[in-house]
Parts: sequence; structure tokens; C-alpha cells
Amino acid sequence: MGLISQVIALGATALILYVAITKLIDKRSYERKKQQHGCGEAVKYPHSEPFIGIDLLVKDAKEHTACIYLEEIQHQYAIYGKTHEVVFLGKRMIRTMEPKNIQAVLGLNAKDYGLQPLREGLAEPLFGHGINTTDGEYWQYSRSLIKPTFSRVEICNLASLEFHFKRLLELLPKDGATVDLQPLFSRLFLDTSTEFLFGKSADTLLPLPAEEGELFIKSFDYVMEGLGNRVRLGRLKFLYRDPLWFESVRIVHAFVEKHIDVALEGEKQRKMNGGTEDEKDHRYILLNEMVKQTQDKLDLRSQILAVFMPSRDTTAFLVANIFHALARNSTIWTRLRKEVMAVGSQPLTFELLKSIKYLQWVINEAHRMYSISDNNPRCVLADSILPTGGGPDEKSPLLVRKGEYINFNIYCLHQDEDIWGPDVAVFRPERWEGLKPFWSFIPFGGGPRTCPAQQLVNTEAAYVTVRMMQEFAKVESRDEYPWTEQWRIGPHSKYGCKVSLTPA
Ligand code: HEM
Repeated sequence: MGLISQVIALGATALILYVAITKLIDKRSYERKKQQHGCGEAVKYPHSEPFIGIDLLVKDAKEHTACIYLEEIQHQYAIYGKTHEVVFLGKRMIRTMEPKNIQAVLGLNAKDYGLQPLREGLAEPLFGHGINTTDGEYWQYSRSLIKPTFSRVEICNLASLEFHFKRLLELLPKDGATVDLQPLFSRLFLDTSTEFLFGKSADTLLPLPAEEGELFIKSFDYVMEGLGNRVRLGRLKFLYRDPLWFESVRIVHAFVEKHIDVALEGEKQRKMNGGTEDEKDHRYILLNEMVKQTQDKLDLRSQILAVFMPSRDTTAFLVANIFHALARNSTIWTRLRKEVMAVGSQPLTFELLKSIKYLQWVINEAHRMYSISDNNPRCVLADSILPTGGGPDEKSPLLVRKGEYINFNIYCLHQDEDIWGPDVAVFRPERWEGLKPFWSFIPFGGGPRTCPAQQLVNTEAAYVTVRMMQEFAKVESRDEYPWTEQWRIGPHSKYGCKVSLTPA
């Protein structure tokens, strides 16, 4: 053997020894920590390909396409337990629907878990860093950019919602003809959210929708679809070269940049006026508030798109789900309408909407029955303990290690018979009487990363439900199918929300 071969052989042996010793030390430290905290192991999912976990990825993808994922994931939790272990991209992932574990991940030990290692770079080139792709200081900075606006907007922007709702009314048939409310609610909330975020509505509810707004949203939806493909390609995402996708990103950027320029100009004027606001404009616009804190155009573009992304269609799906349930339950409709009509002609303020008790129960029940958020992954940033799910009785604590993953499932949590009772699959707002669930009901997540739009979403959903009830005496389902999942940002009704409306 030549000298070079000897050196290579020696180097390789040293490397193998190093890896083996490091693994041994690591295993010992893992076992010691486990013992210290009385931890057990979780039940393991029986992978047919246990190294990367491709079998489960393929299975999940097929079930999403076949619109049976929610049923199947519930089935898996029923078989392998409320906390179990799978392999995800070659690493251990703990899947859980246990409120105690979710509380530990989102609340008590939130600092041990993050999103950045999972999401960094995924949204590029649509946006770089934003609130939902970062952890630590940058996430805190992103959160501080939007917090003041979100804490006031639900109280102040109802006039704008009414303006767009009136346009929606024009499009609703008054002769009992069948109408699909889901796409119309999508347009309603798209028009209000673009106005709130960018300062200019996409105006998609107009009989002749503004071309610019239509093009923007068509391009945005195309970009979101392509992002899904790029995510699946992982590090090979450079292979994704669809020219229409890159053109769509350019159109989205151009739309947003135009509004950033307007907001920056407005801020310049505001400063020249000694910092006083335009007296005539009572709306809260997120971009206008952001430019008070940063004038960096690229940062503003990333930050505002990172907020627009989770706003797309989510509130619309919630309201469509409410009407899906109301159209099938005349007793609930009648009780709710009685409470709503009792309000009379009082202005529909944030406080008034909150005070209609049965309405709040209906909204909660819609969140519970048809969760818009389902899987929520986290990367473990530092070794941490989950309170339950280990050992033969699945009740011992579980040690999770830096670099591993957690995935908590909100849909399964909201469908857990042990929490909600044997009628868990029934839409029954009355169950909310006297109920104050803590970590067992988390449609908006929990802890420091709770959805900042929680109040805004529930207020807008309440407002639109009340206004529909004031305008229509009856709503009847014109849909032969049960609620069936379909996937975009999260699950929504595959067959929409087809109803017939009887004017009041
Ligand atoms: C029915 C409507 C909605 C539901 C159920 C919902 C649910 C959620 C949930 C569960 C999270 C936390 C995810 C996690 O912990 O990983 C979240 C985060 C977030 N949501 Fe929502 N959301 C809704 C609508 C909206 C809207 C309309 C907006 C914007 C206008 C929005 C903006 C955000 C943002 C920016 C975050 C990230 C917060 C952070 O990481 O600090 N959401 N949402």
C-alpha cells in the first residue's frame, strides 16, 4: 500500500472512530437525561422506509390529494396514541395532540422550539425574512412591527367591512336561486384584507373587478401553488424553473412595492406636518403603521407579504364553515337569528358583537369542528421535556433533543372525544355554555406566537354573520355532500357552501 493510501485509510478509520465515539457519548448523555427526568419512549410509527420517512411523506401527499387526510391522521392518532414518534426527513419527529404537550411547546418552554430551521428560505424569492419564517430577535422585531396595529384594528375597521359587505349583497340572489357563498366570502375578505394591509383594496367584488387587483391575486395564488412544489423539492428547488411562476412573483412584488411607495410618501408628509395623522382617514392600515418604524423597502415588502400569506382565505373559510353549518341546522339558525335581531338597530361595535353570547358559541363551534389550521411543526432548538406520551402507559415525560421535530395537530385536538364528549362530531354550539377550555381549544395557536389576527378574525366573522342574518330570514343548504376537506393554506370545504337565501 502506498503512503497516500495509508494516510487515507488512517484518516477514514479516525473519522469512523470519531463518529462512533461521539454517538456513544451522545447516547449516554441522552440515557442519563432520560433517567434524570423519568422519561420513557414514545410509540414508534411502523415505517416501511425508516431512514428518511419517505413512505409517510408519500402517504400524506396522496391523502391530501384524495381529500381524506383529516380522517387518516385521526386514524393514525387512534392507533399509535395521542403522542407518537415518526421519522421526518431522516430525523425523529414527535407528533402530539396532547394539550399538556402543546402547552409546553407553545407556552411554558416556547424558547426551546422554533420555526426558522424548518421554514428559512422556503418562501424565497416571494419574501425573505418575515414573521412566520424566523425566530429570536428577528421574529421579535417582526412582531413589534405589526403588534400596535393589530391591537386596534378590530375596533376600528368595521366601517370598511360594511362598505365591502354592501358590494357582496349586490351579488347575492334574492329569488332563492342557489349561490355558493364560499368564493364570494373569499372575495369579500380579500377586498377588506388588501385594504387593511396595503391601503388599497383589490376590489374583486366590483361587477367589473379592478384589473390590477385581479392580476395580483391570480399571480399570488399561482406563486403559493408553486411554493408548495419548491418546498417538496427541498435543496433541489433550483430545478424549479417555471417562467410563469417567476413572472407571477414579479407581478406580486410590483403590486406591493407600489403601495409601499405610497405609504412612504404618506409618512414623509405626516412628518412634515409635525407627525399629525390625516383627520379624514380613520382606517388602520398596516403598511402605514410599518413605515413609521422602518423605511427599508425590501424589509417592508417581506414583512407585509408574510402577513398577507396567512390572511389569504382564512377568515373567508371560517365564515363559509359557519354558514355551511347554519344552512343544515334550522334550530341553531332560528335561535341565533332571534338573539341577533334582538340587537335592533344599534351600531354593530366590537363590544356589541362580543356580547351576543350564542353568536360567540357558534363561532367557537365552527373553529372546533372545521379547524382551519391542522399540523403545526416546530424544530427543537434545545433539549427539552414534553410532559406526557412516553413509557408503556404513554403517560411518562418524553425527552426531545436539539435538531428533532415536534408536530402538534389542532384538528385532532378539537376532535378528541375524551375532551369534547361522545357527540364530538356534532355541530352543537350549546356545548360552549360555561366552557372555558384552556389548551384544549387553540384555533389561533397559543403562547408568544399566537395568531395576531385572532380578535380581528372573530370580530369580522361575527359582523358578517350578523349582517347576513339582518338581510336574510332563512338560509337553506343546496348541497348534497357532507363537509369534505380540500387543501389550500389549510383545509376548507371542497364543495363550497351552496345555499339558497330568503330575504328578510
Ligand atoms: C380563521 C382565521 C385564522 C386562523 C384560524 C389562524 C390561525 C393561526 C395559527 C394557529 C397561528 C399559529 C401557528 C403556529 O403556532 O405555528 C397563526 C399565526 C399567524 N397568523 Fe393567523 N389565523 C387566521 C387568520 C389570520 C389572518 C386574517 C392574518 C392576517 C391578517 C393572520 C396572521 C397570522 C400571522 C402573521 C401569524 C404568525 C405569528 C407569529 O409567528 O408570531 N392570521 N394563525
